[in-house]
Amino acid sequence: MKILITSFSQSGNTVKIAKAISDEAAKTCEVSTKTLEEVKAGDLAGYDLVFIGSPIHVGSLAGPVKDFLNRLQAPSGLKMAGFVTHAGPAYPEQVMSKFVEPLQAACEKNALTYLGCFSCQGFLDPALHEMIKKSQKLTDDEWAERVKEMTGHPDAGDLDKAKAFTRDVLSRK
Ligand SMILES: Cc1cc2nc3c(=O)[nH]c(=O)nc-3n(C[C@H](O)[C@H](O)[C@H](O)COP(=O)(O)O)c2cc1C
Repeated sequence: MKILITSFSQSGNTVKIAKAISDEAAKTCEVSTKTLEEVKAGDLAGYDLVFIGSPIHVGSLAGPVKDFLNRLQAPSGLKMAGFVTHAGPAYPEQVMSKFVEPLQAACEKNALTYLGCFSCQGFLDPALHEMIKKSQKLTDDEWAERVKEMTGHPDAGDLDKAKAFTRDVLSRK
């Protein structure tokens, strides 16, 4: 099976998950791992499965990932799974499925099989801390708690979970 793993990542969190998925998938499959910038949305011929990764930006996938999904021209029979990182604590499933809705919409539009989306926390770029703290009207203590919670993510446990997600996706191919 030929697999493409592609992701957009500004501060490196999502690409760590891409690497974990890639390491796991490479045990049994032929894997190409590329940045989103390296992949043409109309050039997915030859792959059986594509994993697409994104940070959550303002409650949705990052703009370049949404653009990519909008331009997607995929061969019939392709399967797709997603992976996202976010600074907030674990979101309820209903909220997360709204965030990643463009993935499902692209699958529906192109008649692809959607195999689910992995999500975990990723430390927020320190340059944005003050802005987010203010925009969410958090006190110093609340913000300190938020920073403590996201520090170190994605961690080894997150990478293990991403690998387990990969095994699950591959078992459903
Ligand atoms: C412009 C911007 C908007 C963000 N919006 C959210 C958000 O709505 N919810 C959230 O939990 N995290 C948000 N984050 C945090 C990122 O999703 C998180 O830090 C992610 O792990 C970054 O991934 P990257 O290192 O691959 O770029 C935002 C980050 C940026 C830069």
